[in-house]
Amino acid sequence: MSQPVTMQPREAMAALVAPEGRRDPYALYDALRAHGDVVPVKPGLMVAVGYTACSRALREPRLLVQDARSHDRLYPDWRSHSSLRGFTESVLYTNPPDHSRMRRLMSAGFTPRRVAALEPAIVRMTDRLLDRMADLGTGGAPVDFMAEFAYRLPVAVIGAMLGVPDDDQIWFRDAVEDVTVALEGISRSSGLTAADRAMDELSAYFAGLIEQRRAHPADDLISALVEAHETDGERFTEDELIGNLVLLLAAGFDTTTHLLGHGLSLAFEHPRYALRLRTEPGFAAGYVEETLRYAPPVHATSRFAGADVDVAGTTVPEGTKLLVLLAAGNRDPERFPLPHRFDPGRLDVQPLSFGAGAHFCLGAPLARVEARIALPRLLDRFPGLVPAGAPPTATGSSSPATSGSRSPSRRRRTPSPSRTGTETANADGRAPCEGARPSASRGVLTRPRSSGAPAPSPPARAADARRWRTPHARPPAW
Ligand code: HEM
Repeated sequence: MSQPVTMQPREAMAALVAPEGRRDPYALYDALRAHGDVVPVKPGLMVAVGYTACSRALREPRLLVQDARSHDRLYPDWRSHSSLRGFTESVLYTNPPDHSRMRRLMSAGFTPRRVAALEPAIVRMTDRLLDRMADLGTGGAPVDFMAEFAYRLPVAVIGAMLGVPDDDQIWFRDAVEDVTVALEGISRSSGLTAADRAMDELSAYFAGLIEQRRAHPADDLISALVEAHETDGERFTEDELIGNLVLLLAAGFDTTTHLLGHGLSLAFEHPRYALRLRTEPGFAAGYVEETLRYAPPVHATSRFAGADVDVAGTTVPEGTKLLVLLAAGNRDPERFPLPHRFDPGRLDVQPLSFGAGAHFCLGAPLARVEARIALPRLLDRFPGLVPAGAPPTATGSSSPATSGSRSPSRRRRTPSPSRTGTETANADGRAPCEGARPSASRGVLTRPRSSGAPAPSPPARAADARRWRTPHARPPAW
C-alpha cells in the first residue's frame, strides 16, 4: 500500500485512470477523501468517497441512474446499438416507477429459497471443476485458475439457476463476455460491434427459451419470470424480460469471477487464513465479506442528481453526475479501523461492494454462497496450491486456453432441447457498474498439488499476487 498523496481532486481523478493508478488506486482514494466525503472534481462532476456518503447517495431517491431519457439527452446515437438498447430495458438502467415494477417481479423469482436450493449443485459443480484442475495439473503443470475455475463456475451457476441447457453454456460464455463490454458505461458508444452482435444473439436465444418455457414450464428462474410476466398485474414487456435475462447473465459472471480470484490471491498472501479456510467450516463467511470489502470486484457506480440533494452534508446540485467510489468507501478509516489491513475477523463489515438502496445487487446472496463454497473446497482439495508465475496479461482476456475457445463457429443461436443439469463437467458489471472492474486476478496461474505434496513457500510469491490485483479492466468514463 503506497502512502497517501497530496493532490487536487482533478489530478487524483486523472491519475486514477492512468496505468499506475489502476494498479493501486487506494492512495488516490485517500487523497480524494482528504478533501471531504463528497468532493467536487469539475463543474457537473462530484465524487463520493466516504463510506456514509456512498451509502446515503445510493439510498437517495433523487439521485437517479442513467436511463433512456438521460441517454437521449447526453448520447443521441445510443439507440443505434442493440447492446445499449437491450441493457436500457433492464433494472440497472431504469428509475421508478419502471424500476420498482421490474424489481418486484425479478425479486419474486430470485428468492432465497431458489438460491438455497442451488447449494448442493454448486458443491457438485465446484468439485467437478476441481477434478478438471487436477487433470490439467497432472505432473505439476501450471493451471490458469481464472480461466479453468473462476470463470467457469459463475457461468455454470447462473446458467443452472436460469435454466439454460448445459449444451448452450459453452457458446453463451463467449457471448456474455462480449456483451458485458456494453455495461461499462453508456458513454462508450464506440467499439460495441461485438457487444451488439452478442446482444442480438442472446436476445434471439432467450426469446426461443421463453417460448419453450411458456409451453413447458420448469422449476427455474426463466419459468418463474415468464410466469410473472404472464399472470401478474404488473408485467414485463417482452423486451424488458429479455433485457433483464441478459443482464442477469452479464452482471453475475465477471464480478463473481473476480471475487474468486481476489479470494485466492489473498489466501496466497495470508497462508494462515488459507489454513483456516480449509479447517474451520465457519471461517469462510467472514473471509468472503472481508475479501469483498478489501478487494471489491466493482469499484464505482454513478448517479445523476434529479434535484439539488444533500449528501452527508454536501449539496450535490441538480444535473450533477456523482461518481460513487464503493472501493474508497470500503477503505474509509472512519468506518473501518486500519482500513488497509486485510482482516477477516472484522465484525459488522457490511461492505459497499454490492451497492445499496433500490439497486442493491440482486445476485449478492448467490455470489456469496459461491465464494463460501468454492474457496474452502479449492484449498482443501489442493492444500499445496501455489502461484505458478505471473499472469499472461494484466488486463484483457485471460489465457490462451480461453481465447482459443472463442471461435464463432461454436456459437449456438437457438436453445438446446436438453434440460439444464446443474452438474455438468464442462460447465463452466455497472458489471453492474460504469467501467470500474478489476481484471488482474484473471491471470492467476496456480500449480495444483494433491494433499501431502510438499509446497514451495507461498510467502515467497506474495509479491506476485499483489501485483495481479488491479482495480480497473478499462479506464472508467468520467
Ligand atoms: C461478487 C459479485 C458481484 C458484485 C461485486 C456485484 C456488484 C453489484 C453492484 C455494485 C450493483 C449495484 C449497481 C448500482 O447501484 O449502480 C449490482 C447490481 C446488480 N447485480 Fe450484482 N454483483 C455481483 C454478482 C451478481 C450476480 C451473481 C448477479 C445475478 C445472478 C447479479 C445481478 C445484479 C443485478 C440484476 C443488479 C441490478 C439491480 C438493480 O438495478 O435493481 N450480481 N451488482
